[in-house]
Amino acid sequence: MNTRMWGGRFSEGPDAIMEEINASIGFDRKLFRQDIEASKAHATMLAATGIIGREDAEKIVEGLDTILREIEAGKFKFQRSLEDIHTHVEARLKQLIGAAAGRLHTARSRNDQVATDFRLWVRDAIDQIDAGLRDLQQALAEKALANAGTIMPGFTHLQTAQPVTFGHHLLAYVEMIARDRGRFADARKRLNENPLGSAALAGTSFPIDRAMTSKALGFARPTANSLDAVSDRDFALETLAAASICSVHLSRFAEEVVVWCSAGFNFIRLSDRFTTGSSIMPQKRNPDAAELSRAKTGRIIGSLTGLLIVMKGLPLAYSKDMQEDKEQVFDAIESLVLAIAATAGMVRDMAANAEAMKRAAGASYATATDLADWLVRTLGMPFRRAHEVTGEVVALAEKKGVALEEVSLAEMRKIEPAITAEVFGVLGVEASVKSRTSLGGTAPANVRREAKRWLARLAREAAT
Ligand code: ARG
Repeated sequence: MNTRMWGGRFSEGPDAIMEEINASIGFDRKLFRQDIEASKAHATMLAATGIIGREDAEKIVEGLDTILREIEAGKFKFQRSLEDIHTHVEARLKQLIGAAAGRLHTARSRNDQVATDFRLWVRDAIDQIDAGLRDLQQALAEKALANAGTIMPGFTHLQTAQPVTFGHHLLAYVEMIARDRGRFADARKRLNENPLGSAALAGTSFPIDRAMTSKALGFARPTANSLDAVSDRDFALETLAAASICSVHLSRFAEEVVVWCSAGFNFIRLSDRFTTGSSIMPQKRNPDAAELSRAKTGRIIGSLTGLLIVMKGLPLAYSKDMQEDKEQVFDAIESLVLAIAATAGMVRDMAANAEAMKRAAGASYATATDLADWLVRTLGMPFRRAHEVTGEVVALAEKKGVALEEVSLAEMRKIEPAITAEVFGVLGVEASVKSRTSLGGTAPANVRREAKRWLARLAREAAT
């Protein structure tokens, strides 16, 4: 006798290897809350529409609550032969309430069930990620405000380019994360439709009320096409795409942390709480959290690629291939949540080494553009000509092995006679950053204003 849910037509049990490749309970047990929540909504709707009796529905809901408590308490027995979370819950329900349990699966299928459960799970994951990203923005904006006037070199090609402020650099990441949050919010909007009631693929002949289950589960509306509803995994792909871009941002930041705390830069210091030692080199302080955040990007992007490839050749509607969606998503979300928290932790932990940053900002003639701009502004020179003059001054300073502001006025006048002593006012790094007051520029006053604007905005968000 075959005791499987679908065993009616089967006389033999499955081969061991069939069972092994088929079972998903090892990972989809993570969906237990969503599965039970969706089943409760379904049972309540079936009673409200008169498809099943009120008493049966009450027994079903009570039984489902018992199962939820059992799983939460770690008292629930999972077994591979029961395949997945959906059959586990139903089988246990039967043990608990008897024959009435068999009415729960009226007008639904595991296909719309899993699509519903998984959407609910991904929706929760998006909310969790958003909270983490909000906290990261908070950490960055606070650190930016504290470092609005901390001068560091800005780079292009990782070559010293122009002085910027550390606060400005940190606020750049606040902007990136704002876009990430926008992408997740956007994915959430499209995700928030209810597949339940699409049944196996064609809908059902029972007079179900899909608006009712949608409302109970917090969906904006039911999905419009039953075939699409059971075979769509766009919500997972979009979330993985947003996660991939977000993880790239975290990885870029992690790379900067690694560089900044290397001996050659020495721009920041991470405490013992966010570094590890070496088993052989006692002097080492390794930024492992940054390195691992940087590395998590590999598996997150890998998950997106993996699921895209699973989906790419599938005909409508459901195929078992789609069972392979979950591990990819679970792993990517777990990795991203961890990387976000580690990044926020590092941001709060890091201390700027203002002196080393400032010294580096002044090196390599980083204020050469300020000299050229001064020539344009004060002497009315065309920028291209100013660029040439500045190039000659830099070459002279380089030859003498001195900083720009150490070239004497007499020497500068040999290159351009119209230069006056006023020029020394723009050659220092402080004057340089202070002058960058254009919208979005690095001036400390700008940074202070932007950091405060972000902190106020984040506070408003937290209040709602
Ligand atoms: N465990 C399955 C999955 O994750 C549930 C859906 C099974 N549907 C089916 N027709 N066998 O996709």
